Amino acid sequence: MQLSPEDRALIEAARRAQQQAYAPYSGYAVGAAVRTADGRLFTGCNIENASYGLSVCAERVALFRAVSEGARAIEAVAVVTRDGATPCGACRQVLMEFAPEPEACSVWIATPDHIVARYTLRQLLPDAFGR
Ligand code: THU
Repeated sequence: MQLSPEDRALIEAARRAQQQAYAPYSGYAVGAAVRTADGRLFTGCNIENASYGLSVCAERVALFRAVSEGARAIEAVAVVTRDGATPCGACRQVLMEFAPEPEACSVWIATPDHIVARYTLRQLLPDAFGR
């Protein structure tokens, strides 16, 4: 799998973010990182709540951190779990909103010690609803 230094750094950032997961209810730690068009990295982890439905996914935490710091375009995403899970449907839709080129937006799927797959955001959410 072709891995640029930028993508390697993105995946490493998601691995570090996984360590910050607050997941006492599911026990399932997720780390995510997004790279914005201007080259910045933003990370997130899942944050659960005793009122389960208020829990938020790692991908959305990372993306919302980016957007709240002025970013409007993401060009790559990395997601780290113990078993190489792909982003949930809600996160795919939210990521799509800020991916001007979903065919070119890599979504790296990894575990703490393996890279499992590379998708594009378009592959993960074909026929997306959009503006
Ligand atoms: N989770 C994520 O952080 N990202 C996903 O794409 C799927 C699920 C979190 C939510 C919850 O804290 C835990 O994983 C188990 O569902």
